Amino acid sequence: MAKGKYIRKRGSLRIDIISGVPQLLESPLNHSIVKRARDKGLVYIEVHDIRDYATGKYRKIDDYCYGGNAGMVLMVEPIYKAITALTKQRKYDEVIFLSPDGEQFDQPMANSLSLKKNLILLCGHYKGIDHRIREHLITKEISIGNYVLSGGEIAAAAITDTLVRLIPGALTDETSALTDSYQNSLLSPPVYTRPANFKGWKVPDVLLSGDHNKISKWQDAQALARTKALRPELLK
Ligand code: ADE
Repeated sequence: MAKGKYIRKRGSLRIDIISGVPQLLESPLNHSIVKRARDKGLVYIEVHDIRDYATGKYRKIDDYCYGGNAGMVLMVEPIYKAITALTKQRKYDEVIFLSPDGEQFDQPMANSLSLKKNLILLCGHYKGIDHRIREHLITKEISIGNYVLSGGEIAAAAITDTLVRLIPGALTDETSALTDSYQNSLLSPPVYTRPANFKGWKVPDVLLSGDHNKISKWQDAQALARTKALRPELLK
């Protein structure tokens, strides 16, 4: 998918995503902020189809589960080949498996991963992947929440998007990643745009005052009040 279309600038983050359903990643990686960051060479992303590493007439990537449990399991060999094809070419900081069993993804983890050079994100699918991959090749497992997705692709897209917006230059207003919710463990203050009055629903006067000091104090107070009301656990 989109191989060769994007450049990689020296020092930029490289993310290789290995997936059995690469089509699921097409839209999130080819629009908006992620697309612009790829166009600018701020991040290099390549999606690898596990099926390209499968053998046999049907290029099978999954098989029945030993022990008779229900559901198909992604096979060890194609994933082994996909990962080692990459790790032979360069050193990876982490080989990450997306899984509900993993460490919970959050903003501090995103900040730390966005500073890495080379990452592999492996997406599981169906019932899971052959456990030998997790034992021998995976260095970190990440979950995006306590629920089960059909596969890791949506998690990989969420993580990639979160990392990309942290790369300097990825956002047009570079300061805006710093004011994202969670970046300082607080939720963002409310934002408004024109019109100032819609059917009697008014934008707070302070935001129209032009007094930047006052606006900034109001925004800080709002961020704190919203966090206390909606997500008090973030203040602990
Ligand atoms: N794959 C399936 N569910 C997942 C989750 N919650 N987080 C990451 N990867 C997953």
